[in-house]
Amino acid sequence: MTTPKKSVGIGFIGAGDISVLHAQAVARCPGAHLVGLWNRTAERAAARAEEFSCRQFATPDELVADPDVDAVLVLTNLETHLEYTRMALRAGKPVLVEKPIGASTAEIEEMIRLSEETGLPCMPGHNYIYEESLSRSRDLIAAGDLGKLTSVYVMYNIHHPEEVARRYPGVIRQILTHHSYILLFLAGPVRRVSAMKATLHYEEYKEEDIAMALLELENGALAHFCASFAADDHAADPWTVMVKAIGTAGSTRYSYRDWVEIKPGLAHSQTYTAYQASITNEVRHFIDVCVRNGGAPLTTLEDALQAQRLIEAIESSVAQGATVEL
Ligand SMILES: NC(=O)c1ccc[n+]([C@@H]2O[C@H](COP(=O)([O-])OP(=O)(O)OC[C@H]3O[C@@H](n4cnc5c(N)ncnc54)[C@H](O)[C@@H]3O)[C@@H](O)[C@H]2O)c1
Repeated sequence: MTTPKKSVGIGFIGAGDISVLHAQAVARCPGAHLVGLWNRTAERAAARAEEFSCRQFATPDELVADPDVDAVLVLTNLETHLEYTRMALRAGKPVLVEKPIGASTAEIEEMIRLSEETGLPCMPGHNYIYEESLSRSRDLIAAGDLGKLTSVYVMYNIHHPEEVARRYPGVIRQILTHHSYILLFLAGPVRRVSAMKATLHYEEYKEEDIAMALLELENGALAHFCASFAADDHAADPWTVMVKAIGTAGSTRYSYRDWVEIKPGLAHSQTYTAYQASITNEVRHFIDVCVRNGGAPLTTLEDALQAQRLIEAIESSVAQGATVEL
């Protein structure tokens, strides 16, 4: 007879929009439960604790020290990710930290050191790659079943109103971070990049609401990134979120538009079922593979570091109006 496994207790640091998807994910993860949360604004913490039927902690230190909390999800704004990741790891708790995981390569390097020193998993919140179809695409590319890889497109066109967008950095950090880890996961490192950005629909907010990049990969293939908060794509077969890989002997596609529910989804005008599904798969991997069995995430902190280097090269290309080598 096997002994039943203890349910893994989860604590959330930060209870903004993304915590709603993570709470659903934990609820859908057999063998895990949400113990409680802390949020900087106590009123929001109380409301979310009631919504998620969990405890409200008075401070983040109290949350990470609680013996019922076995692992921590860092769901605050980018600027505070390192601070709370450090706090949780030093308290002996494995961490899943939302993307972009750090504000600089130095911050991610510190996360790598902390994870090595404590011997604890620290998993980047790279949710898209936990979609099975992206893993399948990666395997086809790696095995050469698509022939010689020629091109990869990662496209994102989801309107975000200014009041939502101003909670985030511009789309280069906020959205092209997804594109960067997806491309690295599918097709490997980038050799050089050329990028542009614009601000087209905000009244006051100054950060970019659209950015595009052309990239040359070390394997010789070319890639195209687009990230836009400026407008939804309403045309036939829309590029809402689309990842396409084309090779000389085959091609693959992943699209948010394969599953659409006609109701608002957080900041989105419709609910793209794949969004929640990717977060659910990510949280399951964190709990079942990393926390329970000490296994690795599908992309590591080292991959997050490479993705951050690519983001910084994109910013540098925009600033210089030139192609930048990595
Ligand atoms: N994986 C994805 O697809 C995805 C989607 C959206 C957001 N995110 C990421 O999740 C994180 C949170 O985003 P969100 O949409 O929930 O934003 P949000 O603005 O709704 O919530 C941010 C939370 O951070 C807290 N916060 C802000 N400044 C703080 C500070 N100085 N100290 C402590 N707490 C502070 C706020 O109280 C709030 O609860 C961000 O890193 C974002 O990039 C990821």
